[in-house]
Amino acid sequence: MVQAKPYPTALTGAIPDLSSSRSEQLIQFNHPEKYRTSEWYTGHGEITASGDGRSFEISATYSLKARVELVDGVFDCVNPTLAQAYKSRTRCVAIVDQTVDELYGEPIRRYFEHYEIPLELVVCRAWESDKTPDTVHRLLQFLGKDGCDVSRNEPVLVVGGGVLSDVAGLACALHNRRTPYIMVGTTVVAAIDAGPSPRTCTNGNQFKNSLGAYHPPVLTLVDRHLFRTLATGHIRNGMAEIIKMAITDDPVLFELMEHHGSTLMETHFATLNGSEELATIADDVIYRALFSYMKHEGTNMFETYQDRPHAYGHTWSPRFEPAARLMHGHAVTIDMAFGASLAVEMGWLKPEERDRIIALCRSLGLSVYHPILENVELMIDGQKNMRRKRGDGGLWAPLPMGIGSCDYAQEISSDLLRAAIARHKQFCAALPDRGQGKDMYLTDLGLE
Ligand SMILES: NC(=O)c1ccc[n+]([C@@H]2O[C@H](COP(=O)([O-])OP(=O)(O)OC[C@H]3O[C@@H](n4cnc5c(N)ncnc54)[C@H](O)[C@@H]3O)[C@@H](O)[C@H]2O)c1
Repeated sequence: MVQAKPYPTALTGAIPDLSSSRSEQLIQFNHPEKYRTSEWYTGHGEITASGDGRSFEISATYSLKARVELVDGVFDCVNPTLAQAYKSRTRCVAIVDQTVDELYGEPIRRYFEHYEIPLELVVCRAWESDKTPDTVHRLLQFLGKDGCDVSRNEPVLVVGGGVLSDVAGLACALHNRRTPYIMVGTTVVAAIDAGPSPRTCTNGNQFKNSLGAYHPPVLTLVDRHLFRTLATGHIRNGMAEIIKMAITDDPVLFELMEHHGSTLMETHFATLNGSEELATIADDVIYRALFSYMKHEGTNMFETYQDRPHAYGHTWSPRFEPAARLMHGHAVTIDMAFGASLAVEMGWLKPEERDRIIALCRSLGLSVYHPILENVELMIDGQKNMRRKRGDGGLWAPLPMGIGSCDYAQEISSDLLRAAIARHKQFCAALPDRGQGKDMYLTDLGLE
């Protein structure tokens, strides 16, 4: 029986030395608060000496605080939220998406001038084709000794879409091994999904998002007014991630999307025009999607459990999205629609529920089919990659069990996969445009 000996935090003396002890002993070690350096991160641990004088075991926890907040006019001088985050520091080091800088660079600079906070800002082109280790290296130069020399507890401000949040988040994870950052997601995807996500990354060879680190922003500010300037295609793209949480977790959100999804898309979330009532619905949709996502993702920061509803639409798409050069949202809805047909094939979903899912995606112009699904070898290869990524315990593909809940398929045999592809192809062949969506292909492959 191991005796736990809590190390008294009030004492300032050394940790008891058990190195020469010949009996099994455990020390719980709560580090004294006065030595704490970070307001967001903490950790405790215990060490168990086995008593043989040759081995011991460590068990440690790491905990973090991450806040998500809806705000209006994040760069309006009347809104003090960002200033409060930086006022007590001597400056704000910021990484800003190139397009966002063209559109909002002036208000951003004016904001920090107004609050007399020196701003050190780098502009970063963040096309999908820029989601590379090279971009991460460039950002590391900016943050590092030869650049701004950002300290370990100085939150970097990241302003941009999902590509920037992924690569800049990864640079922050690597700089000083862990540097906090504040995220202002400027696209729908970044606002409700990629922005608050702990999964920072860059693309690897042939497989999206395969190099990365778990490192969420300490604060995510979501301002839907920034969606005003987004291309409608990018609003549509972001709707896919909202639909994902609606199908797997929130039936109320699904109904809200059925009733208001296309109006929200046309009005860019009630920012181009629309009543106060629509603005309230827009906030409600954003909040529900965010809450639902972070309820699962935020409480499972290290993906140590595979009951992850938000992975719906992301089982096969990481393999076919780059191969077919699809917009991320369209790749996700193709995967979700295929997953719905697969769930019908498995008896998890009623055909009429699959029809509702597909009707909702199509009402927003999102794709539900692409011929690349018929490349069975590629789909099997995608499953193989995903099985490795999810920890070798299985494929754990989230699939809907009705509207608003899901379960996880541990394995999908190749026979079942083939049958589901055939069923889905047959279903989509009857659709007017065979299930293709609007603006479904990437247009920013500028480096080709
Ligand atoms: N880490 C995660 O958990 C996670 C989740 C979902 C998606 N992602 C990743 O996110 C990426 C897609 O993100 P995205 O859809 O935001 O695309 P994006 O970052 O490429 O942004 C889309 C375009 O909009 C521009 N833009 C950004 N904000 C704007 C604004 N307010 N007004 C006008 N233009 C603006 C950008 O410059 C870009 O050209 C994919 O690479 C995907 O893998 C990551």
